[in-house]
Amino acid sequence: ELYNFRHIGADTKVHGVIGNPIGHSKSPHLYNPAFKSVGFNGIYLPLLVDSVSNFLSTFSSPDFVGYSYTIPHKVDGLRCCDEVDPIAKAIGAISCMIKKPDGKLKGYNVDYLGAITAIEEGLRESKGWSGSGSPLAGKLFVVMGAGGAGKALAYGAKEKGARVVVANRTYEKGRELARNVGGQAIALSDLKDFHPEQGMVLANATSVGMKPNIHLTPIPKEALKHYSLVFDAIYTPKLTRLLRESQEAGAAVVYGTEMFINQAFVQFENFTGLPAPKQFIRELLATNT
Ligand code: ATR
Repeated sequence: ELYNFRHIGADTKVHGVIGNPIGHSKSPHLYNPAFKSVGFNGIYLPLLVDSVSNFLSTFSSPDFVGYSYTIPHKVDGLRCCDEVDPIAKAIGAISCMIKKPDGKLKGYNVDYLGAITAIEEGLRESKGWSGSGSPLAGKLFVVMGAGGAGKALAYGAKEKGARVVVANRTYEKGRELARNVGGQAIALSDLKDFHPEQGMVLANATSVGMKPNIHLTPIPKEALKHYSLVFDAIYTPKLTRLLRESQEAGAAVVYGTEMFINQAFVQFENFTGLPAPKQFIRELLATNT
């Protein structure tokens, strides 16, 4: 059903998602039907990989043209690139790799685009925004967490002109990220007392609240009233305790699922060079999640 192609031939472009474990990945269920829907002659496989460098040297066939990267290989993947997009380099992790026509492997991080696009859309909708620039420009953007996801969000927000605050459990790690993006650092445990202004944006990039620990939240509810929009990178469950309490506190919320959908659009376009069939992909995810 998943690989239901009329014809796999010499010019079929092979793609895959590199991870370990990989059985849970939704990506093959997304890209295979999406490729087919636009008539793109491509296939997308789940690739259970221990060593990225061994894998890439073994499967160096020109038929392999694009990879997605997932846990735990986003950092190793970056080390195996011939070229790295500047933002992925700054983040220190890749989410996707494309083989260029000259055979060179170029790494990108599109997690950042997925999240930031979703947050910008959320701000535009919540405020009836009509300006032409980014609604993040000049805004105070607080990111909780300084791991791979935290870095991507901090760099992305900075790119859009936001003033970034990094709130991490391990303060030193947050301070390093804050320094790299020209922002401010704070210990996560102190964030409840941090409210220099109203209308800030809050993004959760910690794993706090993810299944099975759905009763946890990274910040007390009382502190949420200072934020105009709250984003959670967690998408299992869709409505985290953080987002539910943010809604109760009157903030607009952006679900982690939006980040997943947006990064899928960007990756699809990187893989195929064609516009993503957005409505089709949204419907696929709605029936597959
Ligand atoms: P990812 O790639 O998903 O960002 P990661 O690199 O392991 O994953 O980063 C996890 C983030 O969640 C870190 O910022 C981590 O904080 P520390 O730097 O202090 O480890 C944060 N985190 C994980 N568990 C946490 C907890 N129980 N409370 C607060 N923060 C937590």
